[in-house]
Amino acid sequence: MKLAEFIGYVRENCLANRHDALEFASKAFSIEYSQVPLHLSDEVVPTEGVQKMLDRLGTGEPLAYVINNKSFYGLDMYVDGRVLIPRPETELIVSEVLSMFSAETELRILDICTGSGCIAAALLEQRPLWTADVLDISAEALAVAEINLNRYAHGRFRLKQGNALDTADYPDGRYDIITCNPPYLTEKEWEDSPKSLKFEPKNALSDGGSGLSFYKKLLDMIPDLCHKNGVALFELGLGQHEVVSGWAEGQKYKIIKDYQEIERVLVWTNS
Ligand SMILES: C[S@@+](CC[C@H](N)C(=O)[O-])C[C@H]1O[C@@H](n2cnc3c(N)ncnc32)[C@H](O)[C@@H]1O
Repeated sequence: MKLAEFIGYVRENCLANRHDALEFASKAFSIEYSQVPLHLSDEVVPTEGVQKMLDRLGTGEPLAYVINNKSFYGLDMYVDGRVLIPRPETELIVSEVLSMFSAETELRILDICTGSGCIAAALLEQRPLWTADVLDISAEALAVAEINLNRYAHGRFRLKQGNALDTADYPDGRYDIITCNPPYLTEKEWEDSPKSLKFEPKNALSDGGSGLSFYKKLLDMIPDLCHKNGVALFELGLGQHEVVSGWAEGQKYKIIKDYQEIERVLVWTNS
C-alpha cells in the first residue's frame, strides 16, 4: 500500500487527528516527520511491530505511549505508561521561569512531582549553568525522568524518591526556583474522565480527594525551601485559583493564564 493509504487507514480507524496520524506514520516507517508529505506515494509494508502498535491505538491507548514520545517545549520526551504524558499548558511554567531568569547565573531548581522530568529537562536544556533536584513518589516515574534528564541535562541533576507532602523526604538545602505540577483532579473528576486518561497513572492525575491537597501543604513548606527572592511555580487545575490564592493571601504572588485564558500557574516569590 502507499503511505497516503496507510495514513488514511490510520485516520479512519484510530487517530482522526491529521498531525497524530502523520506522527505515527513517521515513527512506523522511520521517516522524519517533516519529510512524511514528500513520501506519500511511496510503497510501504507495515511490519508485525507496526500492526501491534495499531492494535494498541485501537484500544484507545494514547499515541504518546505507543510511540514512546511526546514533544514538550520543542523537545522530544521519552514517555511510557509509568508517567503522565506532558501537557502543552505545563509549558507555561517553563516559559515563565525562562522569562524571569537569564542564562548567566548558576541557579538551583527543585522540581516536585517531576514525573517524566519534562519541566526540569526543558529548563536545564535552555540554561546550561543550572542544576536540578527532581522529586517523585514513584520510582518508576523517576526512571523515566532519568532518561529525559540524561538526554538534555547530563550530569546536572539528582533524582530523589519521596513524598512531596513530607518535609523529611526533601533533599537538603534551598533553591532559587521550585516548580510543581501536582496531581490535581478530584477523585470524582478522575472517575468521570475519558478512557484515554485511564491509561495514565492514577496518582499522577488525582490526589484521590479534593484535588487541592498539595497546594496548601506546599505553600506552607516553600518559605523554608526557597532562597530569598526565589520563586515557586505551581500548575493549577481548572477553577482552583481562587481557593489557592486564598492560601497565599498576604504573600507575594500572581496567577498567570494559559493560552485558553484559564488561570493556570501560581507564581510565588519569597519576598
Ligand atoms: C501531574 S504529574 C506531573 C508530571 C510532570 N511534572 C508533568 O508536568 O508532566 C504528577 C506527578 O506527581 C507524582 N506524585 C503523586 N503523588 C506524589 C507525592 N505524594 N509525592 C511526590 N510525588 C507524587 C506522580 O507520580 C506524578 O509523577
